[in-house]
Amino acid sequence: MSKESKLGLGGHSFIEELGNDPHASFEEQCAIVADCLDNCIALIDTTYYQERVALGHVLKRLGRRDEAKIMAWNFFKQPGREHELVDYTPYEPQHIDLMLEELQTDAIDLLVIHAHDDTAKLLKELVLTQDWVQAGKVKRVALGMARLGHLRQLPAAHPVSAVLAPYNAFHPDAKELFETARSLGMDAIALSPFVRGWKLDEIGADKDAAAAILLRWVAAEPLVDHVVVSMRKAEWVHANLRAVGEGPLTEAEDAQLREWLAR
Ligand SMILES: NC(=O)c1ccc[n+]([C@@H]2O[C@H](COP(=O)([O-])OP(=O)(O)OC[C@H]3O[C@@H](n4cnc5c(N)ncnc54)[C@H](OP(=O)(O)O)[C@@H]3O)[C@@H](O)[C@H]2O)c1
Repeated sequence: MSKESKLGLGGHSFIEELGNDPHASFEEQCAIVADCLDNCIALIDTTYYQERVALGHVLKRLGRRDEAKIMAWNFFKQPGREHELVDYTPYEPQHIDLMLEELQTDAIDLLVIHAHDDTAKLLKELVLTQDWVQAGKVKRVALGMARLGHLRQLPAAHPVSAVLAPYNAFHPDAKELFETARSLGMDAIALSPFVRGWKLDEIGADKDAAAAILLRWVAAEPLVDHVVVSMRKAEWVHANLRAVGEGPLTEAEDAQLREWLAR
């Protein structure tokens, strides 16, 4: 069987907000997810509740739930704000069943706790998510938007086996977090290799070439286990896979990237 790709599909692929490109139609979303699964991209993120609902429908239509590794964060539907992207809410006992229903599944492969600085509350979330692991509703637990301090505050026994943070050539600060996480046996999952889609326009170079250079900068980093990218077009799945397959940047590409960073 082929090895799982380092590339993961971002949840913002399923929503209109946060992107330049228009909303991908349901048919396009099905094509994107099918292309990912066909090409060993198993890790699929869902951040906002709207993304969970969308992915649930797509995987049901495709009949391929078992091939995907679903990641899900604690951003929930709020009464009167169903059409907005609302902030995260620390986990409470009722949340897991809501998430499973939205995703139309029995278990979440990687449940993400959005990190924050209320240590007592975070400890409660760790206990709760551990309970969900024991109940078979969650396979693994991760800390998202984590900083080094959050890792240092983890109790001796905890369920966290991965950390997630934005990590790209413009914002490489998560490197130390990833080094520490890896030294503790955790996976390091990088988010947003392009910052956002608009950053590629701002660079002003050929967009495909700029995307490939920024993605390769992250994907070739041995510390990174996965890099999660939103892709609202099926053709980008193939472009991004090709880029990841090309490996580290050449000297000329690295010089080009430095020029963009220095602006
Ligand atoms: N950044 C965070 O704070 C954060 C937090 C929680 C979770 N995440 C997760 O991380 C994922 C990725 O983050 P992100 O969407 O913020 O940033 P990103 O993946 O760096 O940027 C995605 C955008 O890049 C463009 N794109 C993708 N492939 C391309 C290609 N081959 N050529 C040209 N343009 C391409 C698209 O832009 P347009 O569609 O805009 O044109 C796409 O929306 C999210 O979907 C989410 O699952 C991020």
